[in-house]
Amino acid sequence: MTTAHAIIDLDVTGDRINRHIYGHFAEHLGRCIYDGFWVGEDSEIPNVRGIRLDIVEALKALDIPNLRWPGGCFADTYHWRDGIGPRELRPRIANTNWGDVVENNHFGTHEFMDLCDLLGADAYVNGNIGSGTVQEMADWVEYLTRGDDSPMARLRRENGRDEPWKVPFWGLGNEAWGCGGNMSAAHYAEEARRYATFAHNHGENRLTRIAAGANEDDLDWTRVLMKSLMECHGCTLYGNLPYQAISFHYYTHSGSGINTEDAAPFSGAQYYDTMAHAADVERIVRGHVAVMDSYDPDNRVSLVCDEWGTWWNVEEGTNPGFLFQQNTVRDALVAGIHFDVFHRYARRISMANIAQTVNVLQAMVLTDGDRLVLTPTYHVFEMNKRHQDALQLHTSVRDTPTLRVRGGDLPLVSMSASTRDDTALISLSHLAIDADCAVSIDLRGRDAKITRARVLTGDDASACNDAEAPDRVAPRGLDATLRDGILTITMPPHSFATVELALEPESDRGDVTR
Ligand code: AHR
Repeated sequence: MTTAHAIIDLDVTGDRINRHIYGHFAEHLGRCIYDGFWVGEDSEIPNVRGIRLDIVEALKALDIPNLRWPGGCFADTYHWRDGIGPRELRPRIANTNWGDVVENNHFGTHEFMDLCDLLGADAYVNGNIGSGTVQEMADWVEYLTRGDDSPMARLRRENGRDEPWKVPFWGLGNEAWGCGGNMSAAHYAEEARRYATFAHNHGENRLTRIAAGANEDDLDWTRVLMKSLMECHGCTLYGNLPYQAISFHYYTHSGSGINTEDAAPFSGAQYYDTMAHAADVERIVRGHVAVMDSYDPDNRVSLVCDEWGTWWNVEEGTNPGFLFQQNTVRDALVAGIHFDVFHRYARRISMANIAQTVNVLQAMVLTDGDRLVLTPTYHVFEMNKRHQDALQLHTSVRDTPTLRVRGGDLPLVSMSASTRDDTALISLSHLAIDADCAVSIDLRGRDAKITRARVLTGDDASACNDAEAPDRVAPRGLDATLRDGILTITMPPHSFATVELALEPESDRGDVTR
């Protein structure tokens, strides 16, 4: 048994944790859309207008805030007019990025917006810069969001939708340094400004336009974009920024790169290597935030991590282009670590989207015919959901066991906390693979009562859920005590836990000076 100590100042709140940090991503890739979200109206699997109902219900239980679509790399090959009008007349195209399969375009703009409505999620539509045109993107925005009698609004009505939709988030291409066009940062910076200029706000709709950002710690990419944005002539003259956010992508793996090792089984060394790689997201976020701070101290431009998660080899016997992988306790801990970092940098990070929601990479749900399995990662999103739109609580981990991995000291306990409506939520990830950890947290500043404590783990770190044992890894009750302001729990090996607290109402507190 090891020990860890921490302090949380329940009366010291920080920035609001944007609920969109709990966002999702659905690409036309493998079985994410087809045989995932979309089963078609004639399917025997219960569906609403072709959209699979059990997936909608599972995601609604997470309070899913937004969904990014149609890619990824696919976005820069996607021409939106292929996906409107009667389905039987839509062109069949090749999905050159993912499996080189035929895409029948049955899931297009109307189906995606219907899915967002069913989920109660905001739409994040990713436009095509790589192989599209400025006019094509401008038309798509108009088609989606314009209410009057404009040409695109009329076309939308001809296709059965009278009212414009609300689209809050708009992506300006994807991975422009790679599959999105292999551009230089300087070239893309010009393109992003130009495309963004014509992606108009129609009526009441207000777009947050998101520039395609860096791969991992490519700070130069962010620097070039920030400089181009903050120093653009028209931008300084009129005070309007063509785009409002910049993204970056970060995938977790062990060993030498993505797509080189299996989701399971894995060795202890591979496990810890993965944890260290996941924890490295903090260095990367810190770097991008520092660059953005230097150009934009007033926080006018936000940082978006619109692709993150683990990337393992595909499961044996599945299409290598479909990126279907199992999801274990190790993946859940990767998620726990990322959320702690995203919470800490809530001042600048406005959104994050795990890749990807259904049947692809670090998924929330895996389907097999009519069966659906919730993954360990799903449970982290559920256990953490009350962090959405809550205020950061200052948390300091005073001592924690560490392990030497990748040339650094990996803390084996990661933690973050937030508060809203006289409640608090504490999240903890315990990474040691073979020992319990007694964690004691000094809760200061407000009286608190434990209302619920839960833990997520498995017999070993490679435990997963499948059709035979869908609840092998699921949250269970955790013993927690709170005496004289000290919260104590014992975390099993490789576990994620949440402790929910009711706080003494602010109005009952004396003359606490803040
Ligand atoms: O999420 C899978 C792919 O990873 C996306 O299409 C691309 O943006 C990234 O390289």
